[in-house]
Amino acid sequence: MDDTFYITTPIYYVNSHPHIGHAYTTVVTDVLTRFHKLFGADTYFLTGTDEHGQKIVESAAKSGLQPQEFVDRISQEFREMWPHLHIENDQFIRTTDPQHKACVQQILQKIFDQGEIYLKDYQGLYCVGCERFLDEAELEDGNCPDHQTPPQLYKEQNYFFRMSAYQDWLLEELKQNESWIYPGRYRNELIQFLQQPLQDLCISRPKRRLNWGIELPFDENFVTYVWFDALLNYASALDWPEGEKFKKYWPYVHHTIGKDILKTHGIYWPCMLKAAGLPVFKKLVVHGHWIVGGSKMSKSLGNVVDPLAMKDQLGVDALRYFLLRDMSFGEDSNFTEELAITRYNGDLANNFGNLLNRSISMSRNSFEGCIPPLAQIGAEENNIRNIFIQGVETFQEYVQSFQPHRALEHVAWLSSQVNKYIDSCKPWSLAKQPEDRERLGTVLYTALDLTRILVGLLDPVMPEKMSEARKALGLGTEKITFEKLTPGLLESGTEMPEPKPLFPKMKLSAEEKPAEVTQTEKKVSTIPDEKKDWFAFDDFQKMELKVGHIKTCRKVEKSAKLLCSEVDLGEDRLRTIVSGAAEFYSAEEMLNRRVLVVANLKPVKLRGEISEGMILFSDDNGKLVLIEAPEGVNPGVTVR
Ligand code: MSP
Repeated sequence: MDDTFYITTPIYYVNSHPHIGHAYTTVVTDVLTRFHKLFGADTYFLTGTDEHGQKIVESAAKSGLQPQEFVDRISQEFREMWPHLHIENDQFIRTTDPQHKACVQQILQKIFDQGEIYLKDYQGLYCVGCERFLDEAELEDGNCPDHQTPPQLYKEQNYFFRMSAYQDWLLEELKQNESWIYPGRYRNELIQFLQQPLQDLCISRPKRRLNWGIELPFDENFVTYVWFDALLNYASALDWPEGEKFKKYWPYVHHTIGKDILKTHGIYWPCMLKAAGLPVFKKLVVHGHWIVGGSKMSKSLGNVVDPLAMKDQLGVDALRYFLLRDMSFGEDSNFTEELAITRYNGDLANNFGNLLNRSISMSRNSFEGCIPPLAQIGAEENNIRNIFIQGVETFQEYVQSFQPHRALEHVAWLSSQVNKYIDSCKPWSLAKQPEDRERLGTVLYTALDLTRILVGLLDPVMPEKMSEARKALGLGTEKITFEKLTPGLLESGTEMPEPKPLFPKMKLSAEEKPAEVTQTEKKVSTIPDEKKDWFAFDDFQKMELKVGHIKTCRKVEKSAKLLCSEVDLGEDRLRTIVSGAAEFYSAEEMLNRRVLVVANLKPVKLRGEISEGMILFSDDNGKLVLIEAPEGVNPGVTVR
């Protein structure tokens, strides 16, 4: 194993808010960094935001903001999100950072001076969602396969990078270096792609069409193509070319990405690096997608799970555990609240949490609140100790081969082995016979000692919970180093505080809400989805839906989001209703609209205003659109 480890996440587009897919990539990268730190490596972990390009300009315009103000806001959201998820990145880069811009220009100039960038007339099909030109062959029914939208036809003069010149070299690299791309099937995909002639890469956008980007150093009429700009963040962050960080970490660079951006990282990026005279990355690790309600979760598809809401429900560390344990690295995986809670209850509450709790409780009860003395160890102890010695090695191999799900599965298995050991040694029976006291001590010591090793292995995934577990074992707050993850190092006689359950059992909330399928084509099915949390017609009847007429509307003071309307519902008074739509509608725009209102929602106070109902909007990935009642329907009419 190298003793230096540099790892990056993709830098996230700031066209909308962070979701659980972004959280997954970042958590995986954080956990891998922490594991390598545990194994003694000098690590560097980079993440950040990708802020140029057409997609961003379009989103900024929709929000009524200038691009800079817009990217500042959303980038800040990403930056602020990560500590909530116990992410400890060393750096957060933004592609609008001046130092990054200078680096991009320097590299472009270098490649241009080498004669590998040229100008030509071009016509191509551009997908704004992907921010790249698509080949005709990639389209499905004329649409981008990822975004289900038709690409735009652009005819313009642009600069091109002679990527085709690197095809043979890249193919050879991919063939020679079996472990370069992980899992291997993504390497096969790239090799397959390179069976067709590789096209040169369009690396500019004319300013008259898009001026939000890094100006080409050799032509002020163009900005740099967003992917050419973004990929270079991995080098610019380390102060390419002369920076100390660059010299130290670049030879060990690993990129974690989702499979959606395999082509840009597996084709464009190595060719760009080669042209710039930089060593290519050490490894590209590619994960699958979280699927919600049958489709990939993404900003563009609109079936998004909010990481903070999930964290509030499950707890940060348990969320991190679930994300890593339930997704076989490289494969797609389903995300549901039910699966997360089942995993939590199975692995954390019943298995590991129970082990920790019962080992501590039994030891405290029989040994005056302390870790028991270890006497003669027998065959069972030798056996389980060996399982652990081997187990730690296996665990390390799984981590180093980028299989965190396997590593955690192995920890769960080790934990269940200790539970079995306890069950077979029956300390509760030993505690009844004074002559078995030594044996009792040995059994409980062994259980606690091995639990300590599990705590050390789980620390990178659940740092806060494992810090609590260390305190519970009387170990203090300091992390357990890797050399100490071997049996027999627990100190007898150490006091342990009264344990509180670390992972109390959790109930599935009544409201399991699978996200909607948003594909354009849906098949009719007469088989009701059994998992869906259907509710009865009688329950629906309880909701009073009415047509309302907005008579007045104003912005709520000191709130960016809230509007306060007075609404006629056909009653003898107007209702006050607060809506979180100020980012999408001005008070004037709301005035006189006929809307749909939930009329019997319990009143609440929002920013000092009493709200007595809810005006309905469609919520397209955070973008609210008012649902209006048909013309001519009077206020107070019931909606069914
Ligand atoms: N800005 C580019 C990356 C440039 S890197 C030089 C980009 N940004 S993104 O905001 O769209 O983020 C893409 C990444 O988010 C994916 O590669 C993946 O890591 C993560 N995910 C987005 N949706 C996801 C899921 N549904 N599931 C898992 N990860 C997902 O592409």
